[in-house]
Amino acid sequence: MASSISACRLHLCLRSKLINCFPKYETFLYRGVGTDAVVAQAETTRRDVTDEKDGRKTLHSLLKERQEQAEKSVLISCQPRTNQKRFLKYLSTHGDVKKCFFYESYGVYAVVEFASRDGVASLLQAAAIPSVSHESMVPFKSRLLSLRNVSSAESPGQQSDVQYQPQIPVPINELIQRLSRQETVDQQITSLTEAYQLTEENSRLRFLVCSLLKDIAAAYFPECTIRPFGSSVNGFGKLGCDLDMFLDLDGIGGRNVKMPPSGLFLEFQVKRANSERAVTQSVLSVIGECVDQFGPGCVGVQKILNARCPLVRFAHQPSGFQCDLTANNRVAMKSTELLYLYGELDPRVRSLVFAVRCWARTHSITSSIPGAWISNFSLTVMVLFFLQKRSPAIIPTLDQLQHLAGPADKSVIEGNDCTFVRDFGRIRLQQNTETLERLMNEFFEFYATFPFSRMSINIRKGKEQNKPEVAPLHIQNPFETSLNVSKNVNATQLERFVALCQESAWLFQQSDNNTRRAAGTDGTPAAWGLATLLMPSQVARIKSRKKRKREPASERIKSLLESLKTKNQGKKS
Ligand code: GTP
Ligand code: MG
Repeated sequence: MASSISACRLHLCLRSKLINCFPKYETFLYRGVGTDAVVAQAETTRRDVTDEKDGRKTLHSLLKERQEQAEKSVLISCQPRTNQKRFLKYLSTHGDVKKCFFYESYGVYAVVEFASRDGVASLLQAAAIPSVSHESMVPFKSRLLSLRNVSSAESPGQQSDVQYQPQIPVPINELIQRLSRQETVDQQITSLTEAYQLTEENSRLRFLVCSLLKDIAAAYFPECTIRPFGSSVNGFGKLGCDLDMFLDLDGIGGRNVKMPPSGLFLEFQVKRANSERAVTQSVLSVIGECVDQFGPGCVGVQKILNARCPLVRFAHQPSGFQCDLTANNRVAMKSTELLYLYGELDPRVRSLVFAVRCWARTHSITSSIPGAWISNFSLTVMVLFFLQKRSPAIIPTLDQLQHLAGPADKSVIEGNDCTFVRDFGRIRLQQNTETLERLMNEFFEFYATFPFSRMSINIRKGKEQNKPEVAPLHIQNPFETSLNVSKNVNATQLERFVALCQESAWLFQQSDNNTRRAAGTDGTPAAWGLATLLMPSQVARIKSRKKRKREPASERIKSLLESLKTKNQGKKS
């Protein structure tokens, strides 16, 4: 109990910091008053101010900042015993170094950001194409380099002064021990988020890989951009998650130039195709070929051009990222922006998503391989929906966010209205002070009894809707509203999810599980709270123990089981 109070206090403190940034309003959300033009102008100013005031950046400004860093950066393969001081001294002969960090992945690598692009240009000027007598090289110059030492090698046995930044999450057993040392479930959930979320360095590396690929695509489309989307930037990425990229050709000058009313005018002669999809396929096919043939470090390139969303998949060895390159995928960029916004609105959103994703992964509810299981994206939408359904709601519905949008937020993609407010300053949250522990528990109960057979999950409305089709799990795509994001999920996988929610709700409510326990004689902390939920063996043991002992269930669990029985009877009849 004391733990809940302290967690609640911490949360209130965080919230009060946010609330202080805004004037007092009685409604859930508020809309600026004035003409559209005035609102638009005020918005631009306010967005900048908001960014500085409470430290929250719009995704747009975050992407811009990261892209600029990436364009001034290089990736260098180094010797394991590289002397950092000597390395930095060498680099500084080319320009001021703003940031440098090392990591290990199939060798040791350094990410170096120069203060200006001149530093990069000077470094590349001094680099050579390797010449090996028995091999031929593709003379493609990129910002992926190898550090060579032609003078005396670093003496053997010499200790490196380099510190490596982790690029993969802590192993699950280590995480379980870490969580078991915490005092409260809320602290456990926060600790899990901190251990798993992308680090500053990993995030920089993701943008650098996009920037390196952009250099390849730029051979054909000099003004293109390659942007990361999905969990690399939506705030829900776990160390080691894949890198989803989007080749954006929209910025190509002249694409949207209007014809002058009179006089001469020039147009580019271009190839035409039957559809936008055909253009995407041909662009990705060529870029995929270039990545395969010329892209240093890019291996296992697969062109998956007949998928609903055509893509090129490959592994980028120097970073260790599994990459998916798409084009013309603007709706996915919008859902990324939406998820990012939700994650920034309240710290509990990200924490709960991290905890649920981790729980689902350890019980094989989700997988890194595509299949009939629930995807991380679907699971995230399920958490968002649950948070919209709290009373008072923790996050607004998409319709409410759309209602708050100004003219600058207007976005229609392929006939789908993707408009929603992006300025945090316009969103007013309700006063909900529930602890993460309570939310986690309620999440399991919510989905243990959700009427999946009849209802669809809908974050646009924040209310379940009648299912428009027979798929076992129906989660309305927030922007392409006729689509189901969980169309792939079969009945078995959904049943596994529901059963696990029931077991986890039961386990979470056992008093011997939700308080910290004494460490074992060897000092290893005994697993409790969230840590127990992350141990498939523990959940299974509880399941069988529950059967054997026929322990009296709590009133809540009794009613939960009752409701399931009724549901099953309904199914049979
Ligand atoms: P992980 O890669 O599993 O960490 O999560 P992710 O959010 O990156 O998911 P994924 O790589 O599968 O997809 C990348 C992004 O594409 C998601 O974040 C969504 O924005 C979008 N996306 C994925 N699946 C769907 C879908 O079924 N429908 C829609 N509209 N968008 C999707
Ligand atoms: Mg992804």
